[in-house]
Amino acid sequence: MRTQVAIVGAGPAGLLLSHLLGLEGIDSVLLERQTADYVQARIRAGMLEAGTVGLLREAGLGARLDVEGMEHRGIHLQWPGERHHLDFVDLVGRSVTIYGQTEITKDLMAAREKAGRPVYYSASDVTLHDVTGTPHVTFVDAEGQARRVDADVVVGCDGFHGPSRASIPDAEIWERAYPFAWLGVLADVAPSADELIYAWHPDGFAMHSMRSPRVSRFYLQVAPDEDIAEWSDDRIWDALAKRLGHPGWALETGPITEKSVLPMRSFVATPMRHGNLYLAGDAAHIVPPTGAKGLNLAVADVALLAKALTASLKDGKDELVDAYSDTALRRVWRCTHFSWWMTSMLHRHGDDFDAQLQLAQLRRTVTSAAAATELADNYSGLPL
Ligand code: FAD
Ligand code: DHB
Repeated sequence: MRTQVAIVGAGPAGLLLSHLLGLEGIDSVLLERQTADYVQARIRAGMLEAGTVGLLREAGLGARLDVEGMEHRGIHLQWPGERHHLDFVDLVGRSVTIYGQTEITKDLMAAREKAGRPVYYSASDVTLHDVTGTPHVTFVDAEGQARRVDADVVVGCDGFHGPSRASIPDAEIWERAYPFAWLGVLADVAPSADELIYAWHPDGFAMHSMRSPRVSRFYLQVAPDEDIAEWSDDRIWDALAKRLGHPGWALETGPITEKSVLPMRSFVATPMRHGNLYLAGDAAHIVPPTGAKGLNLAVADVALLAKALTASLKDGKDELVDAYSDTALRRVWRCTHFSWWMTSMLHRHGDDFDAQLQLAQLRRTVTSAAAATELADNYSGLPL
């Protein structure tokens, strides 16, 4: 079959790209290794920057987001004995919104279905060919039939483990491993706080997030090789109550419905374009989750790439596609720095000297308008 844009990977980046291109009348085919149910159910990110929300609304994807999204003015930062609210609206005039990646994926899948354009789920052996010439992608569909898609361009939206990045020879890799991981927990209990709590604690970082008025999301700093079998529900609630504890505040508990250990790394692959192959989202870069940049960065890449491909494929104007990699990487490195900084400030690592430096940084962040504004500006999202 023939299309203008072959998109490998139907996570949020691939699905959103196909939608934005469709609005411009550009045809695309999506190839996804997993089933639709698997992609939709993956519990991952939850916090959307102001610009991400604006983009989804403008693209006609705001109907459920506007009803179910939970708008927050800021976050709480805490350490033993102290809890401080940073109000992003007062500081930089932007709010953030809690709306799960599962929900965005559901909205995007519905939009793709409405557009009547194909997504090949359960596609195996997806292989990219001739990406510097006339590209095509081969794969085996869910029925076991070998297929070929010819396209003007291929976009790799296939996440960290997908095949697209390997089609860029001599790609340069920038990487940082962290000596800890997150234990992520989803629970059927109303949130115990109005907005997110990021907590520094001698036992390790903890975070209180949420998904709805009835569902809470929590994270605990654990060892990178943590055995999840060691974490009974009681142990999880005890650790959360201790690390998130604050005088006069109580953590509500409830049935835990999901728990998993998430590895943490920073990773950037450059360039993000090779001939007629472009990379977007986790295929090109990974950030540690502290500060919630992963999904928002994938959306920013795709917003930029949709504009650039539209100019190139519709009007023959190549300035934006030629600038894509450099332009996208400026934001990628800004967010890589911010995520590294939030991660380094909030997780227990190093010795007691490091701990004192972290506490000094936290105190500075909540007492200096300049320091608070810097966090708020990055967290709520720089303009797209
Ligand atoms: P992905 O969502 O990874 O989508 C890539 C798609 O490509 C997948 O559907 C995959 O199945 C498909 N694919 C892979 N290989 C192939 C192949 N060979 N052929 C065809 N398709 C293929 N971010 C936050 O901001 N906050 C969080 O709390 C958070 N938690 C996370 C937890 C986990 C376990 C992970 C992995 C990520 C988390 N992230 C979080 C990051 C965020 O979810 C990602 O940044 C976001 O999903 C990126 O979207 P994407 O579409 O680029 O990649
Ligand atoms: C969530 C995850 C994050 O990493 C973060 O910084 C904020 C919220 C979440 O899953 O809700």
